Amino acid sequence: IELYLGALSGVLPEHPFSYPDLESQALATLPPELRTYIAGGAGDETTQRANVSAFDDYALVPRMLNAHAERDLSIELFGRTLPTPLMLAPVGVLGLVTPDQHGDVHGAEVAAATGVPFIGSTLMSDPLEEVRPACGDTPAWFQLYTPRDRDLAASLVSRAEAAGYEAIVVTLDTWVPGWRPRDLASGNFPQLRGKALANYTSDPRFAEMTGPDPDPGATVMTWVGTFGNPLTWDDLTWLRQLTDLPLVLKGICHPDDARRALDSGADGIYCSNHGGRQANGGGGALHWLPDVVAAVDGRAPVVFDSGVRTGAHVVTALALGATAVAIGRPYVYGLARGGVPGGVHVVRSLLAEADLIMGVDGYPTRADLTPDAVRRRG
Ligand code: FNR
Repeated sequence: IELYLGALSGVLPEHPFSYPDLESQALATLPPELRTYIAGGAGDETTQRANVSAFDDYALVPRMLNAHAERDLSIELFGRTLPTPLMLAPVGVLGLVTPDQHGDVHGAEVAAATGVPFIGSTLMSDPLEEVRPACGDTPAWFQLYTPRDRDLAASLVSRAEAAGYEAIVVTLDTWVPGWRPRDLASGNFPQLRGKALANYTSDPRFAEMTGPDPDPGATVMTWVGTFGNPLTWDDLTWLRQLTDLPLVLKGICHPDDARRALDSGADGIYCSNHGGRQANGGGGALHWLPDVVAAVDGRAPVVFDSGVRTGAHVVTALALGATAVAIGRPYVYGLARGGVPGGVHVVRSLLAEADLIMGVDGYPTRADLTPDAVRRRG
């Protein structure tokens, strides 16, 4: 109503509502080295496109005479009641997305303003201790790229715990940089630059990456040496005993992996293919969600991301069984395009559309959204 009234009195919104507009306007504001890094994906980006088009394979079925003037989008997650089912996915190099280079802090401020939890990446441009307070009362989780050096990994987890992050998300699919032709062609790898590694500045092993004039070759080799660490199921036992915080495994797409993760002590499953940035040749992550949800069978929450661009997408992922739905590129573009107000606009727009759909389609609460609310398109 606010928007309609504003438009009628000639006040047009400052920020775009359609994702293509948001993306193109945001990319235009970014320095070239960040454009391909954020927009690009692995290989010829078939998987990245499939993440979005997978949503077209499902249709929400409206139910009538079940409208409620007030909807309730709240969810329960690890003992917390959250006002909405949305989360901000972990994004490395987020710091560089705003001109002041404090994009992580601003992402956290978007979380504070909207009540949508922030998942801070290992590759922050500000130390995790400085980012957490910017979330205010909104929960934050810490995403771990597990360093080969176990002491370093343990120190990151305990710092995150001490700083007030409420869960540890271990990303499993990024122990090697993806095959990203756009980045390879432009020679831009912002994730390998010292500024992406503020969480390590205190560690002498990273001095050459974080000093005033980091040597690019040494940076790459240190990066690969540090994060080039494929985890195995055996490592989960060790990771599990590092913290009492909920442990969420990101990148789980196969039902057997979901079951085994929970049997190995994980508290949450994060179904995602990293936005199609890591391995091409896959399908839309949404297609993997129903089987993962079935395998989890209510034992743990399932967070979903990859390809979420609209409020309708949020509602569809919830109906297919996601406990919470995370957004990546949309809020990054919001921040790039318009700083904190731009990020808040993106989050509020997605929620407004999701809320409206739930109202019009007769699914007024999260509990009403079951798989019966969606059909595979013929
Ligand atoms: C990511 N993603 C990511 N994931 C993670 O666990 N740690 C990280 O540091 C990053 N970094 C990162 C940077 C950029 C620029 C993007 C776009 C994504 C993946 C992210 O958490 C999420 O899985 C994807 O963004 C989901 O895909 P869409 O919906 O953004 O296309």
